[in-house]
Amino acid sequence: MLSELDSLKTEALAALGALHDEASLEAFRIDYLGKKGRLTALSARMREVPPEQKKDVGAKLNEVREAITSGLEVHLGALQAAKDAASVAGVDLTLPGRPADRGSLHPLTQIRDLAVRTLRRMGFTLADGPEIETEWHCFDALNTPADHPARNESDTFYLPDGRLLRTHTSSVQIRTLETVKELPVRIIAPGAAYRRDEIDATHLSVFNQIEALYVDHDVSLADLKGTLEFFFREVFGPKTAVRFRPHFFPFTEPSFEIDVKLEAKGREDRWIEIAGCGMVDPAVFASVSKTRGDLLFDPETVTGFAFGMGLDRLAMILHGITDIRHLIDNDSRFLRQFA
Ligand code: DAH
Repeated sequence: MLSELDSLKTEALAALGALHDEASLEAFRIDYLGKKGRLTALSARMREVPPEQKKDVGAKLNEVREAITSGLEVHLGALQAAKDAASVAGVDLTLPGRPADRGSLHPLTQIRDLAVRTLRRMGFTLADGPEIETEWHCFDALNTPADHPARNESDTFYLPDGRLLRTHTSSVQIRTLETVKELPVRIIAPGAAYRRDEIDATHLSVFNQIEALYVDHDVSLADLKGTLEFFFREVFGPKTAVRFRPHFFPFTEPSFEIDVKLEAKGREDRWIEIAGCGMVDPAVFASVSKTRGDLLFDPETVTGFAFGMGLDRLAMILHGITDIRHLIDNDSRFLRQFA
C-alpha cells in the first residue's frame, strides 16, 4: 500500500505538469481528490491494513494528499498570475494616477451662506416667499402706488393673470407680517428677483437679493445702524467703513442708502453703494393689519427696520469681480478661483 501511494503521488505530480487550463486542473482535482477519486479509494482501504502498519500508512496518506493538493494550488496560482499579467499587458502601472476634480460652492452660494450665517448669529431666522408674486405683496402693501416707476410694465415681467415675477425680495416682508403669530419678527429672506433690464456688466434679468426685517415694540434706527455695521464688517472685514445716506423708498421712512468703503489692499479708496434700508413705514403696518384683521402690527405701537441688498453685488465687491455675467457663465476657469 505504501508503494502504491508513492507511485500515485509521482503519477499525479507528473500529470499536473502537462495541465495548462482551469478545466483540466478541475478534472484533475476530481480524478485524484474527489469523493470518488483515486486517493479516496486508497484511503478506503485503510480497513485492510494490519494494525501495526496503520500509523505509517496513515502518515503516508496525509503526505500524498498534501503533496497533490499543494501541487494543484501552485498550478492554479500560476495560471491566475498569467491571466492577470495578460490583462494588463501594455499598461504602464507606474504612471501617476489622474487626480479627481473636487467640486466647490459657487461664489454666490458662498456669499449667501456667509450673509445668512452672520444674520442668524444676531437672531434672524430664514423666511421665504413665492417668486411669482401678486401686485399686492410686491407693491401695494409696500406702500408703492400704481403710478410708481417700479411698476412700469416695461421694467417688470407680468403674467397674463396680473401676477408678476417679484422685482425684489421685499415682498417677503408682507408675506411674513401677514402670517406670523407673535412679536418680535426677525427674518431674513435670500432669493431671486427679476427685472427687465438690458443685460450688461452690472445688470442681469435674474439676480439675487437678501432682505431683512425686524419688528417689535421699540426697534430703533440705532438698532438698524448697529446691525448693518456689524454685518458689513463681518462680510468685508473689520476695517470696513459704513455710511448711511438719506434716500427714498416707499416702504420705509426715514430711508437710507448704504455705502461701504473697503480697507483691503489694492482697492481704490472710494465709497460703493451696497444696500437700501430704513424704518418700516407705518403705512406698511396699516396694510398688513387690514389683511390680518387684528392689532398685532398696530402702526401706533410697533416699529421696525428693513434692509435689502443684491447678493451678486456683494460677491462682486468682495472678490473684485468686474462683470456680473461671470457669475452665471459657469466657466470653471473663473469659478475655480473661489474653490
Ligand atoms: N427692495 C429694494 C430694492 O430692490 C431694496 C430695499 C430698500 C429693501 C430699502 C429694503 C429697504 O428692505 O428698507 O432696491
